[in-house]
Amino acid sequence: MLTNDQLSLWDRENFFHPSTHLAQFARGEAPNRIISTGEGVYITDRDGNKLLDAFAGLYCVNVGYGRQEIAEAIAKQARELAYYHAYVGHGTEASITLSKMIMDRAPGNMSKVYFGLSGSDANETNIKLVWYYNNILGRPEKKKIISRWRGYHGSGLMTGSLTGLELFHKKFDLPLAQVIHTEAPYYFRRTDQAQSEEEFTAHCAGKLEKLILAEGPDTVAAFIGEPVLGTGGLVPPPPGYWAAIQAVLKKYDILLIADEVVTGFGRLGSMFGSDHYGIEADIITSAKGLTSAYAPLSASIISGKVWKVLEDGTDEFGAIGHGWTYSAHPIGAAAGVANLKLIDDMGLVENAGKVGSYFKAAMTKAIADRAKVGDVRGEGLMLAVEFVEDREARRFFDPSLTMGAKVAAALLKRGVIARAMPQGDIIGFAPPLCLSNAEADKIVGAMQEAVEEVFA
Ligand SMILES: Cc1ncc(COP(=O)(O)O)c(C=O)c1O
Repeated sequence: MLTNDQLSLWDRENFFHPSTHLAQFARGEAPNRIISTGEGVYITDRDGNKLLDAFAGLYCVNVGYGRQEIAEAIAKQARELAYYHAYVGHGTEASITLSKMIMDRAPGNMSKVYFGLSGSDANETNIKLVWYYNNILGRPEKKKIISRWRGYHGSGLMTGSLTGLELFHKKFDLPLAQVIHTEAPYYFRRTDQAQSEEEFTAHCAGKLEKLILAEGPDTVAAFIGEPVLGTGGLVPPPPGYWAAIQAVLKKYDILLIADEVVTGFGRLGSMFGSDHYGIEADIITSAKGLTSAYAPLSASIISGKVWKVLEDGTDEFGAIGHGWTYSAHPIGAAAGVANLKLIDDMGLVENAGKVGSYFKAAMTKAIADRAKVGDVRGEGLMLAVEFVEDREARRFFDPSLTMGAKVAAALLKRGVIARAMPQGDIIGFAPPLCLSNAEADKIVGAMQEAVEEVFA
């Protein structure tokens, strides 16, 4: 077996890590951590540290680590048929079964599912389908996509453009010209402090409508949004937000893409965020929780309304020119089937709702009154704590102080992994959906101590 030192050396010499400060990492100024095993909500690194993973990897290991049912389904599929493609009507028992299981769980207006490998490629697919849709309908000008500042939709060319975070645009010549951004539904960071939540909702919908009118409704094809903002800060929308946004979109015949890569399959305590907030999407993006990341797989879930136009398009223009070699990969599909069964068998959707409420209440009770805690917010098993320099004035810390990262480091010392979100001093928690109240207490206890240490 290789030593940790050997692996660490090879890591710095050879491995290009995503979302990493490359220079600091190469110089050895940033840590590397080599993970070896996982069980339930815990992972263990090669130094033998057992850590409570309160971010479920990248909010994806929803059933928890070490689930043998999924591992066995993957092994069985690999032994019987590791691969066959899905082009021109090919499939496997796993991919066909999974498509049925997804449609059984998806909102009623959904019709078909296209499989990819990641949230990013699913959103790339979705935008191509939106453009195809408007071309088939004879509306070649209707192509712009509206996203929100602080939205996260991936890091490809189009999806990195849809993402509304500075870090993902800077020096990459993004966003692309077809993408425009509107206000995030982020009540805590509203400009006008006097606004009630309801007034802020009206303000967001009003801004969206103004933007559509300024751009020209005939040029705007779709709006994309996460039911709860994720990487932008784990922000549930203010009351009435989705109803108000949908009313504007309907008025101007603009499609709605609900990006449920994080919220799909239970994280909010509902099967989909769309069910949770009464969103009637035209396309739903799913990935992460679809397989709990036991294998890479994404799904673009297409409504009947969009599907009909796609079908008509192929009658007119021939087969759809879209697909990946690994679309509906049998190993991913087998993982998906086993994962969705396990979510049902373990009652994880319900657990996410129940433990999520307990977790948020316990976190609020423990730290919400601290001088530097500006906001504790969440829905289901998505929870965020946002720090401020001055609570009364709602003044934020200078980003160069990296207060969020310091709190995350203090948590790690106490055996808890949380995520310092990329924009703002925000600590995000999105643990596996199998979290228990006792494990939630452990996270809260560590957070209490971490906050004391960092802001002493
Ligand atoms: C809402 C949302 N959409 C899309 C993506 C992109 O998914 P992936 O990283 O699998 O490409 C993410 C990833 O975090 C996400 O949170």
